[in-house]
Amino acid sequence: MKKRIFSGVQPTGVITLGNYIGAFRQFVEVQDEYDSIFCIVDQHAITMPQDPKELHENIRKLAATYLAAGIDPNKSTLFIQSEVPAHAQAGWMLQCIASIGELERMTQFKDKSSKENVSVSAGLLTYPPLMAGDILLYNTHLVPVGDDQKQHIELTRDLAERFNKRFGKTFVVPDIQLPKNGARIKSLQDPTKKMSKSDANAKATIRILDEPKQIEKKIKSAVTDSEGVVRFDVENKPGVSNLLIIESSLTGKTVDEVVAKYEGKGYGDFKAGVAEAVINHLAPIQARYKELIDSPELDHILDEGRDKANAIASATIDRMEAAMGL
Ligand code: ADP
Ligand code: NA
Repeated sequence: MKKRIFSGVQPTGVITLGNYIGAFRQFVEVQDEYDSIFCIVDQHAITMPQDPKELHENIRKLAATYLAAGIDPNKSTLFIQSEVPAHAQAGWMLQCIASIGELERMTQFKDKSSKENVSVSAGLLTYPPLMAGDILLYNTHLVPVGDDQKQHIELTRDLAERFNKRFGKTFVVPDIQLPKNGARIKSLQDPTKKMSKSDANAKATIRILDEPKQIEKKIKSAVTDSEGVVRFDVENKPGVSNLLIIESSLTGKTVDEVVAKYEGKGYGDFKAGVAEAVINHLAPIQARYKELIDSPELDHILDEGRDKANAIASATIDRMEAAMGL
């Protein structure tokens, strides 16, 4: 039997090239090897202030993005968290075995709640048990996430073990799967920082739905250095190295091969070449996205995903409730 992978992404705006290279492409790769469940975790997106219309659109956009990036509904399950009631149910039961102290120690809670003038919802404190439920409902073996999610997966394991110990074996205790290919894409404006969806500087990120013109412009204005030689040196030439990594990741060429391509050429040619590689790679994804975004096919895929997810998750809820005496 194939091992099961669960992964959730928040619908918080068009994903960046960093998200695509670091996460979505890996999702596409694991589809054959694992029984994969991909969830649009919209209930997590309401822990912070949000605009309802924008959230609603972002949910659909993210669904179309998964599929356009190559998630195949015949191989994987793709669904929206709030359409499967088991998530809120499991989140509640797991909150009742989590302690306030351990939730207050979560770094994301500490970071977000320590900012002044930010209204902090109770959900910001209690979303880690909801996330634990997301994972545990599906008898998940592996959770592919970045380093920053380690603490949440540790909590998930703790809660699963605690529940199993107190109420009898109910959950599979999942393992974290850190990305194999550790390509971290950097900000185009500050190549010492990671490229992030939440960067306020639009020029710092490439969004996977950017038009070719925008991509050319952003790469043209990417911060490099004054040496004028295309060479891979992350320490001393972070901007150039970042662009090399981007072209290498998207074309399948090694970094050395990309460097050789630009031998004797200046940054103008280099940037034009990188932009071309990005545009060419994204073109079919963008075309597929445009087909999907307003199509009934998208609704149909999400309905099927919801039904498949619901069948697994509600069986787990039955086991949880029986174990707890509910
Ligand atoms: P963001 O900062 O863009 O909101 P998240 O922290 O929500 O990104 O991460 C979403 C997924 O994308 C994670 O799997 C994370 O490892 C991956 N990811 C985010 N930024 C990058 C990046 N710059 N390079 C590679 N992978 C990234
Ligand atoms: Na984020």
